[in-house]
Amino acid sequence: MLHLAVINGPNLNLLGIREPHIYGSQSFDDYFLLLKERFLSVELDYYQSNVEGELINYLQNCMGMVQGIVLNAGAYSHTSIALADAISAIGIPVVEVHISNVLAREDYRKTSFIASKCVGSVSGLGMDGYALAVQYFINRLPSETA
Ligand code: DQA
Repeated sequence: MLHLAVINGPNLNLLGIREPHIYGSQSFDDYFLLLKERFLSVELDYYQSNVEGELINYLQNCMGMVQGIVLNAGAYSHTSIALADAISAIGIPVVEVHISNVLAREDYRKTSFIASKCVGSVSGLGMDGYALAVQYFINRLPSETA
């Protein structure tokens, strides 16, 4: 069975409450239930932290455990060389997700330190971005879902 980790970084625990005009009104817990129902053939783990080092620890602990990672690193995407290094170090394919279109927002969101370490990025497609990233791994690793 394909085993993936979905990881959210800082402030994404507030989805549904936080700036709903940008991030929507759905909580991630509600969305994650739907995601699991939609992809019954995939084992999906979920982790969220507001702490950079905890995200790095979790990424490292994914080694040997999951075949792919869906990562919304929130603002750390734009600041963290340490997260970028962790992605390089673990050797697991990571898809970067942003709910909002970061290229249509403030200039400081237009740089991602992690993007070049990821297989690709989804930005601006709302919560669907997570499902699209999961679907990418299913397409890429079809034998794992058999
Ligand atoms: C975000 C975009 C980031 O710029 C921001 O800091 C977030 C959320 C998104 O999902 O659109 O926290 O990653």
